[in-house]
Amino acid sequence: MAKIIVLASGTGTNFEALADRFKDGRHEIALLICDRKNAPVLEKAAGRGIPALHVSYYKRPREDAEAEIMAKIDQIKPSLIVLAGFMRLFTANFTTCYSKKIINIHPSLLPRYPGTAGIKESYQSSDKELGISIHYVDEGMDTGPIIKQFSFTRRGDESLAQIEEKIHALEHKHYPAVIKELLDK
Ligand code: GRF
Repeated sequence: MAKIIVLASGTGTNFEALADRFKDGRHEIALLICDRKNAPVLEKAAGRGIPALHVSYYKRPREDAEAEIMAKIDQIKPSLIVLAGFMRLFTANFTTCYSKKIINIHPSLLPRYPGTAGIKESYQSSDKELGISIHYVDEGMDTGPIIKQFSFTRRGDESLAQIEEKIHALEHKHYPAVIKELLDK
């Protein structure tokens, strides 16, 4: 059985989509790691019986937090480390240790609109094609090699909330499928 570790910081709708896809199957989410003590994603893991670990980044060097995460990775030996709204950057030491094993989802067509405002900046642009990117993670902000992108053509009269909804729907549909493809390779 292939194991996955998911890292998330917030609401956890992508985590939920992954948990739904990988229950009762050949692949399992062995652990959720979260850097925020009160993040809703932790309740989602508890509700599904998925083990979770809070790793604090508060007032300590990120290398110390990464050492805790690395200890878990080295113990569980997952096939993939999946970021699902994890709002931290890793050191180059961390990403080179797990090169081509860490993947992220970003709500824009990279290299356009990296960072935390990907949806809003896509919406405010004059781009006709909007979408999502699934990519390998390096030490930069949404800069790693792209694995796959999915897009839709905007009508032009959508609100920001409607665009957000379309982007999240793409994420929830494609992230689990792409991860499954990578695991089955
Ligand atoms: C998603 O839009 C993802 O693309 C970005 O962070 C957001 C996480 O949302 N990296 P959720 O916590 O999965 O609901």
